[in-house]
Amino acid sequence: MAVVALAGGLGAPGVTTAALALLMTWPMPAGHRVVLAEADPDGGAVLPGALQGTLDNSRGMRNLAIAARQGQGQLVEAFWRQLVDVTDAGTRDRLVLPGLYDPAHASAMEPVWRPLAAVFAGIEQHGHDVIVDLGRRGAVGAPGVLAQKADAVLLVARNTLRGLQSAQVRLEALRESLGGATELGILLVDQGPFSKEEVRKHLGVTVTAVLPWRPKEAAVLSDGAEQPRRFESGELMRSARSAAVRVQELVAIRRSRLAPPSADAAQAVSGAR
Ligand SMILES: Nc1ncnc2c1ncn2[C@@H]1O[C@H](COP(=O)(O)OP(=O)(O)OP(=O)(O)O)[C@@H](O)[C@H]1O
Ligand SMILES: [Mg+2]
Repeated sequence: MAVVALAGGLGAPGVTTAALALLMTWPMPAGHRVVLAEADPDGGAVLPGALQGTLDNSRGMRNLAIAARQGQGQLVEAFWRQLVDVTDAGTRDRLVLPGLYDPAHASAMEPVWRPLAAVFAGIEQHGHDVIVDLGRRGAVGAPGVLAQKADAVLLVARNTLRGLQSAQVRLEALRESLGGATELGILLVDQGPFSKEEVRKHLGVTVTAVLPWRPKEAAVLSDGAEQPRRFESGELMRSARSAAVRVQELVAIRRSRLAPPSADAAQAVSGAR
């Protein structure tokens, strides 16, 4: 399974909205779980946004700072205790780790990001997926280690002039901090005039998937707005479902590229000599 990090830039391109859309549509085999971890150092948005303040701030990223000081085992236990179920049916397979509610707490998190990346890698080996919301500056600041350890980093960008300008600056920083070790793609929010191909040429990175510009549907995820009719089968969630499949394919291709050659493949190569 996979750890996928989403990063943004200036102008709130829609990272949190995209992360939630992926969380709610992520295809999963039975028994598996997908967790959205809000690692945005500027603060989380799911509790006051999508969940409309129905839960207090007692669970979340901040509680991990104390546990991390006590060791990796305590951190793993604390991690599972912080998760909030966002399924209507209470199936606990789509979960959110709420982010910081006060950005002033970000400095206390600095020693936590690296062990947290190890927690994600650990649960990923048990068939769970992790989507990480790094916010607009997380991918290049202290939480950048979460991006470095991810299978893929998707830069969420709008295809407006302003969106592309912001994406270009972020990409330069991201390329430097990732050093080619992680798969990098664009998750395009289709608000502007530029085509996928134009975006690819301009940014030098392939557009992995596109989300449509749907303000009413997006507001359900970003602000807990009332669902418009047929929200689940609406354009935003349908595109998110395709995007989730594309992201899983991207990770699978990368993993097969990195995997050591199997005995069969090695024999085929030596036999062909
Ligand atoms: N696909 C979309 N179509 C229309 N509006 C969208 C879309 N995605 C996001 N938005 C809107 O854009 C605004 C910002 O979205 P969001 O909070 O997800 O951005 P962000 O990149 O996480 O911002 P920040 O950096 O502040 O955390 C919200 O009002 C949201 O409803
Ligand atoms: Mg956000």
